[in-house]
Amino acid sequence: MRFDVITLFPEFIGQATSIGVVGRARERGLVELATWNPRDHAEGGYRKVDERPFGGGPGMVMLDAPLSRTLAAARRAGEGGAEARLVYLSPQGARLTQRRIEALASEPRLILFCGRYEGVDQRFIDREVDEELSIGDYVLSGGELAAAVVIDAVARLLDGALGNAESAARDSFGDGLLDCPHYTRPERIGDDEVPAVLLSGDHGAIARWRRREQLGRTWLRRPDLLARVALDAGDRALLDEYRREWLARARPERRQPPSGGRRG
Ligand code: ADE
Repeated sequence: MRFDVITLFPEFIGQATSIGVVGRARERGLVELATWNPRDHAEGGYRKVDERPFGGGPGMVMLDAPLSRTLAAARRAGEGGAEARLVYLSPQGARLTQRRIEALASEPRLILFCGRYEGVDQRFIDREVDEELSIGDYVLSGGELAAAVVIDAVARLLDGALGNAESAARDSFGDGLLDCPHYTRPERIGDDEVPAVLLSGDHGAIARWRRREQLGRTWLRRPDLLARVALDAGDRALLDEYRREWLARARPERRQPPSGGRRG
């Protein structure tokens, strides 16, 4: 899969994508990445990429012309540039979810556009942008961190990017639920022991325990997610078991789960 990133800070994107899973995916040719700096497509001695906003107010607005030329150059490079979706990272965008990441991972090529300054001339956005995405309800000083988030989350879904193909499916959100807890050596730390079932060698029981923990954690921490997952009779039984044990264990003042415990 190919990413073209339009950014005034190409070094940031280069660094953020050169380590870990994404770095390995790039080395192995699963991910191809190119950056495009609007400053290289700006005119005049100052290579101006921004201007004061019409109507006044603080901050600067990114100019349409250098952005349009940068985008044209990105689209001309390599295969499939003309059809590639242009994603603009901005706090005004739709909230990024794992579902959206899965859809983006099925594209052969994406162009990610990172805004800076107070904003971007709306006419560029209206004319060129296919999709506006936000990584959360807070304001970053630019879209680069958000673009790095998209690249990381997409790259790890690509075939062969993770060592163990199973682990992406078992991640949080892979099936709409949070992940279960994980343990490794030693078996005991002070009074804390690893749940006995994980040492039992009984793969059926381990799978059942993990599913129960996923359901229970999601119920406790993210009931909004649980409400959107279709639970079969087996899941409902596991969740009931988890709830009963949780309520029996919880101190009286904590007996109300944080959410009020909406049923899935
Ligand atoms: N650019 C600035 N803030 C952002 C956010 N929250 N998400 C995506 N891009 C951004």
